[in-house]
Amino acid sequence: TQLSVTCIAPVNIAVIKYWGKRNESLILPINDSLSVTLSTADLCSKTKIIADAKFTDNVMILNGKEENFENERIQRCVKEIKARAAELGSCPKELLEWKIHIESENNFPTAAGLASSASGYACLVYSLAQLYDLKKQEISDIARMGSGSACRSIYGGFVQWQKGIQLDGKDSIAFQVAPASHWPDLHVLILVVNDSKKKIGSTSGMARSVVTSELIKYRVEKCVPQRIHSMTQAIKDRDFSKFAEVTMKDSNQFHAICLDTFPPCVYMNDVSHEIVNYIHEFNRTEGETKVAYTFDAGPNACLYLLEKNVKRVLSFVNHIFPNDNQKSAEYVRGIPVEYE
Ligand code: DP6
Repeated sequence: TQLSVTCIAPVNIAVIKYWGKRNESLILPINDSLSVTLSTADLCSKTKIIADAKFTDNVMILNGKEENFENERIQRCVKEIKARAAELGSCPKELLEWKIHIESENNFPTAAGLASSASGYACLVYSLAQLYDLKKQEISDIARMGSGSACRSIYGGFVQWQKGIQLDGKDSIAFQVAPASHWPDLHVLILVVNDSKKKIGSTSGMARSVVTSELIKYRVEKCVPQRIHSMTQAIKDRDFSKFAEVTMKDSNQFHAICLDTFPPCVYMNDVSHEIVNYIHEFNRTEGETKVAYTFDAGPNACLYLLEKNVKRVLSFVNHIFPNDNQKSAEYVRGIPVEYE
C-alpha cells in the first residue's frame, strides 16, 4: 500500500530568453525560447514522492522546509498529471486517490541565484509521471504550468519551447532541437556574482515588462523569430561564433527590456557589466569568439565555450575573479531520469 519514486532533473540556461506571458495562469509565453540543458550531475533538483493509502494529507517539503501544497502552481501540475493518468488509465484508480508526500531539494544553493524553479518543477512533474506510469507521454506542457522555463528541462541537449497559438496552451510545448551528443564539446561555466540586493522575481518582472515596455513588442515580433532561426542553424552547424553572437545579443536585449520596464528591473550589477566588457575584450584580443555570456534575472554570468578553450578561459576568469567563485557545470548532457 505504498509506492515511491525518486527522480532528478537538470537546470537549463536559455540562449534565447523567455520573457512575458500571454496567459498568466496557464503560463503561456509571448515568444519562443531556446535553451541548453546542463549536466544533471552538477546542477539538478532531486524529488522523492511517496504515495500511501494510509497518508491523511498531501505534503510538500522543499529544501527541508514545508511548502503550502495548495500553492496554485503545485496544484495545477498535480491535477493535470492525475487527470491525464485517469484519462489514459495508466495506473490503478486507487493510486490516484492516495495522498502523496513530496520531498524536493536542489544540489546547488538557491542563493546562487540559479533558476531552481526550472529544474524543480521539471523534476516534480517528471516524478509524478513516473509514479502514475505516464511514461513516454508529453509532459512538458504540464511542467510549463509549474514554471515556464521548466518545460525546457524535460528534454536534454538543445531545447526549444514553442509559444503555441492555442488558447488552452496544448501546443505550448518544448521539443529537442539537437541532443547533447550533437555538440559534445560545448561547455558551460557559471560565474557566481555575489549580490545582496533583493531583486524582483521573474514572474512579476516579466508581467511588469508586458504592461510597460514598448521595446518588448519589437523584440517579440521583429527579433525573436529570426534569432530562433539563426540559433537553430548555428547549433546544427556547430558554429560557435554564430551561437555566441546570438546568445550575447539576446541576453543584452533581454536586459534592455528590463530597463525599459517601468519601474525598471535591474538584474545585472557592476560586476556583471564588467564581465561583459572583459569578455568582449578577451574575444577581441584572442582574434576569435571563444566565449559567450548570458545573464538571467540576476547578476550571475553563464558562459558558453568550447572544451578546447576551457583552460584558457578559466585562467582569464581566475585572473579577473581571483576569489574562486565559479561553478563549472561540466558538459551539456542532462535529462530527467529515475534516480534509484
Ligand atoms: C530570465 O520560468 O522563472 O530565466 O514562468 O513565471 O515561473 P515563470 O518564470 P520563469 O522565468 C525565467 C526567465 C528567464 C529566461 C528563461 O529562462 O528563458
